[in-house]
Parts: sequence; C-alpha cells; structure tokens
Amino acid sequence: MSDYTAAVIGTGGISRAHVNYYSGTDRVDIVAGCDINSERLSAWCTEHQVPDSYADYETMLSAVQPDIVSVCTWNPTHMKIALAAIASGAKAVICEKPMSDELGGPKDAVALAEERGCYFVVHHQTRFSPGYNAAREMLAEGAIGSPVSIHWRTGGGLLNMGSHLIDNYRWILGDPDWTDVLGWIQRDTNRYERGSYAEEKTHALIRFGGDEMILSIDLEDGVKYTEHRISGPDGVINFNREQAVLTNAEGVHEPRSNPQQGYLAELLAWMDGGPVHRNVASQALVTQEIMMAIYESARTRSMVTPPFEKRESPLEEMILAGGLPFEGEPYDCRIPAALEYALKQREVERP
Ligand SMILES: NC(=O)c1ccc[n+]([C@@H]2O[C@H](COP(=O)([O-])OP(=O)(O)OC[C@H]3O[C@@H](n4cnc5c(N)ncnc54)[C@H](O)[C@@H]3O)[C@@H](O)[C@H]2O)c1
Repeated sequence: MSDYTAAVIGTGGISRAHVNYYSGTDRVDIVAGCDINSERLSAWCTEHQVPDSYADYETMLSAVQPDIVSVCTWNPTHMKIALAAIASGAKAVICEKPMSDELGGPKDAVALAEERGCYFVVHHQTRFSPGYNAAREMLAEGAIGSPVSIHWRTGGGLLNMGSHLIDNYRWILGDPDWTDVLGWIQRDTNRYERGSYAEEKTHALIRFGGDEMILSIDLEDGVKYTEHRISGPDGVINFNREQAVLTNAEGVHEPRSNPQQGYLAELLAWMDGGPVHRNVASQALVTQEIMMAIYESARTRSMVTPPFEKRESPLEEMILAGGLPFEGEPYDCRIPAALEYALKQREVERP
C-alpha cells in the first residue's frame, strides 16, 4: 500500500517526466489520467498501466480525490486546473511552468494553497541541475565577489524559456527580490505559444539590488545556448547544467558539480514535515511577476518597479489596444491544437 495516490491532467509530452517521478518511488501510485484527447489518454493509460481515465478534470477530481495532482496541460489552463485541484482537497499539486500568461490566477492559486495547506510546487525542475547548484554554491562562498551579472541568452519565447531562466538565476542568487525591470519585445506576426500570446523577440534588464540579469530571447530566431557565464568583480563562473568552472586571479579551477536529491523526493520530504520545496509556487510567482513586468515595461516604455499588482496580461492589453500591430493569421509556434483550444475557451469565457 503506497502513501499517496496521484492523478495526471494532460497526458502529452511533459507528463512523461511526472510519470517517471511517480514510478520511481513506491510511496505514490498513479491512479488516474485525464485528457481532452481521448486517443492520447487511452494510449497513455495503457502504457503506464493507469486504471482510471477521464475526459474532464473536474469530474476526475471529485470522483478520484487524488492526493497529488500533476497539471501538465497548456499554459492558459494551468491556474484554473490548479485552483480546482487545491479546492478539491488535494494534498499536493505539481503544476507545469509557466504558471500562466497573466498574474491574477497565480496569485489566487498561491493564496488558496497557503490557506488550505496544500503543498503547491511549479515544475521549474532545472533548479535541480548539478551545474547550476555548483554555481549557486560558489556565489554563496563569495568566489567572484559582488555584485554579479549574467547575460543569459536562449530561444523559445519569454513564457516558455524565460520562466526557466529567470527562475534559475533567482535560485543561483539565493532567491532575492527583484528591484526593477526594463523590457523590450517585438511581435510583428500573430504568434502564440501553447495557446498563449507570444512575442517573437524579448530583451530585458532585470535587477535584484546590485545583481543583474540581461535576458535575450530569440535574438537569433530560436537558437538555444547551453553555456552561460556569471561575472563578478573577483572572477567569472562558466557553467552549464552539469558543471561550473570558476576562473579568478589564481587561474582556472577544477570543474565543480553539485548533485541534488530528486524533485519528487524533495516534495515528499516537505509533505513529511521537512524543509519547504525549492520550487514552492510562491517562488515561481516571483518569476511570473517579473515576466509580466517585462511586458508592462514594453507596454509603457518605462522602468517597472515592485510592488507589481496588475492581474491581467500587459502583453494581451498591448495587442488588443493595437499597440503591437501584427500581420497574418494566428499561429502557434509549438502546438497548433493548443491555440485552437485557447481560442474556443476565450469565446466561451468572453463571448
Ligand atoms: N518543465 C519543463 O521543462 C517543460 C517541458 C515541456 C513542456 N512544459 C510545459 O508543459 C505544458 C504542456 O506541454 P506539452 O509539451 O506536454 O504539451 P502537449 O500538447 O504534449 O500535452 C498537453 C496535453 O494536455 C491536454 N489538455 C489540454 N487542455 C486540457 C484540459 N483542459 N483538460 C485535460 N487535458 C488537457 C492536451 O490534449 C495534451 O494532450 C506546457 O505548459 C509547457 O510549457 C514544461
């Protein structure tokens, strides 16, 4: 008999990572899956020997009452489903990133989880990368002095990839508060990503007191980078997911790696009364705030400082007000079905 039951909502690509977590422990049994795509759901249940399947998550939550709920659906649906899972009495919710494409839902979900005592985490799993943790350890030791800065480049959109990178850098720095944000975006076509409005290019300066992050996304059209560098007054740290290398006045040091316990192991330990999970949703909420502040800065053409309270998406506001003129039909750069679904949902919610 295991300690907890789990259910997975959204049985597509990323659900495999969640299944791997659950099947890697004898403390959790996956008892149900849910997807609006019946073929995909049925194949997934057969492959992972999951006994129960549902097309509707509300029906599933009330019928199954799972202890742990994985939310693996498309971006705009995350918070609605997470709120329903928390309200249904789930003990823990693991929600995919980005939390959402606005700020209101994430704020409400974090507040409800805190009120109900639900262990609510977001799947920014790269906080477990040995190389990032080695860099974090070096900074904590004062290896390169302070303040520090990074120019982190990647491809794949702000919500999609920026959510990971901003979250990673905050983790490496020790989860500081942000102090101001300057953002720039470009959107010349009617682009979406997994059902959320998406820009084509992003450039931002994010400051955490003296420490800073320059974030460049898609400047070279989708190219991703794996090697990164943090600079300080006393040296630099070159790092990737596997290792970090310190270079200072003494020369180039041996690569360092800092392996971590597993994502689910840390959640179960938290549920057992241990330390708060590093991916607690209140930390992801800060990342969500910073991303919305980047859009707001682009919208207002000014620097944005906390507290940042706007619940609605500044990107959507800017697009609907004609502030970002575009050409062409709507298209989703990742999953066309996600856009079809999002547009239908919008018609239902805002007829
Ligand atoms: N943490 C990571 O590194 C990582 C990696 C990949 C994807 N993701 C995130 O995971 C999410 C899903 O991405 P994906 O690539 O797995 O997409 P996907 O299309 O492969 O899977 C999503 C599934 O959710 C289902 N779905 C959508 N709305 C639903 C609803 N209301 N109820 C039930 N099922 C529903 C779809 O039918 C689909 O099968 C995205 O938000 C993405 O950003 C995170």
